[in-house]
Amino acid sequence: TNRTFTMIKPDAVANGHIGSIINDITNAGFKIIALKYTKLTEETAGQFYAVHAERPFYKDLVSFMSSGPIVAAILEKDNAIEDFRKLIGATNPAEAAEGTIRQKYAKSIDANAIHGSDSDENAEIEGNFFFKADERF
Ligand code: GTP
Ligand code: MG
Repeated sequence: TNRTFTMIKPDAVANGHIGSIINDITNAGFKIIALKYTKLTEETAGQFYAVHAERPFYKDLVSFMSSGPIVAAILEKDNAIEDFRKLIGATNPAEAAEGTIRQKYAKSIDANAIHGSDSDENAEIEGNFFFKADERF
């Protein structure tokens, strides 16, 4: 487990936090393997979050994630999945620990600033969703 996938979500991009968040990520020891500024459509956001299709907030999630540009990245570090989820904090920013990215930059559970993969398998799938082999360094 040495790689994870992240997205800086539309709220954090719109609020001007791209630079600060990338700074927090690299200061925490993560190396950037791939990086892209892009925008999901309703269709591609729906595909990305297909695992949540049965959850009550799915429509809102897809609509929010396609509402503006995002930053996608593949990150490398020992124990990447677990350490990155610790760095970003709880899904609900109101419950996120002091100093975590969501505590600092997110305002609500539906617009929570950043995504982090929850398993090695999903990190691989999510990274492949955005990046070809020649876009990784
Ligand atoms: P991600 O890193 O974005 O995957 O967040 P997570 O792993 O902490 O949470 P999860 O995968 O369970 O949910 C995916 C995303 O759906 C969350 O980041 C939230 O933005 C959104 N979400 C989760 N629970 C709720 C909820 O109860 N209401 C709403 N509106 N959105 C939710
Ligand atoms: Mg998740």
